[in-house]
Amino acid sequence: MKGIILAGGTGSRLYPLTLATNKQLLPIYDKPVIYYPLTTLMLAGIRDILIISNASDMDGLKRLLGAGEHLGLSIIYKIQGRPNGLPEAFILGEDFINGEPVAMILGDNFFYGHGLSGLLTEAIKTSAPCHIFTHHVDDPSRYGIVVCDDAGRMVNIEEKPVHPKSHMAVTGLYFFDGSVSKRACELLPSPRGELEIVDLIRTYDPVSITYLGRGYVWFDAGTPQSLLAASHYVEVIQTRQGDYVACPEEVALRMGFIDKSILEKALFTMPTSKYSDYLKRVAHDYH
Ligand code: G1P
Repeated sequence: MKGIILAGGTGSRLYPLTLATNKQLLPIYDKPVIYYPLTTLMLAGIRDILIISNASDMDGLKRLLGAGEHLGLSIIYKIQGRPNGLPEAFILGEDFINGEPVAMILGDNFFYGHGLSGLLTEAIKTSAPCHIFTHHVDDPSRYGIVVCDDAGRMVNIEEKPVHPKSHMAVTGLYFFDGSVSKRACELLPSPRGELEIVDLIRTYDPVSITYLGRGYVWFDAGTPQSLLAASHYVEVIQTRQGDYVACPEEVALRMGFIDKSILEKALFTMPTSKYSDYLKRVAHDYH
């Protein structure tokens, strides 16, 4: 499966933080926001990745991740002229997708929980044409919201409903089959003038849903509060457990995308920091 990280948008809810910097380059605690969705794709076993962003932010993203060889990945980049809605990623990425199954993750989405990697790889194995991941939220009018019947089938999906019919939010991680680009091309803009991800999901029947229960954490770091909450969360886990959250070099090693010699080579280029100290320990302890 291929992977797309949608790292564009104006980041208006984070203004003025995003006046000179792309949202995905801001920190969640000690790492750039984009490390979190990137490692989620990696934990799903995805190595072929397209990053879509604004022209003005491309240089920073490329400086951060390059072509991905040091992580055992292939990363390419595509410019989005103006944000026309999430499904536009599948139109811009049509050549990259090339009719194959694709995962898309929003560049500000952070997932964490025991067994996440297994849950994602299991979802890929089912080869469902459309697979979404839901999570209970307190403030449903901020999200895409689904309603399911007793058998777990989706019966309704709405974007940011004024009167939400459930608290089950659609998270920013979506698996689609190879027909997704064609379907996205056929969508019409919504009254707010954008192509809507819920309209794209609606073209599929049935839709497979994995509910991420209480053992999982999901943040969309799109507001100052959620950016801070995610930062606190990562700081607490890392300080308490000593294991880093969303460390791409470590994930690449543990997933077998790179071997220890590639990590050791990357370590030579890193300045002395807590991050490089951690990776030295990871390399030292790895067998
Ligand atoms: C987008 C989607 C929404 C989804 C959310 C998850 O909203 O449109 O359906 O629930 O991402 O992060 P946005 O945060 O871009 O407003």
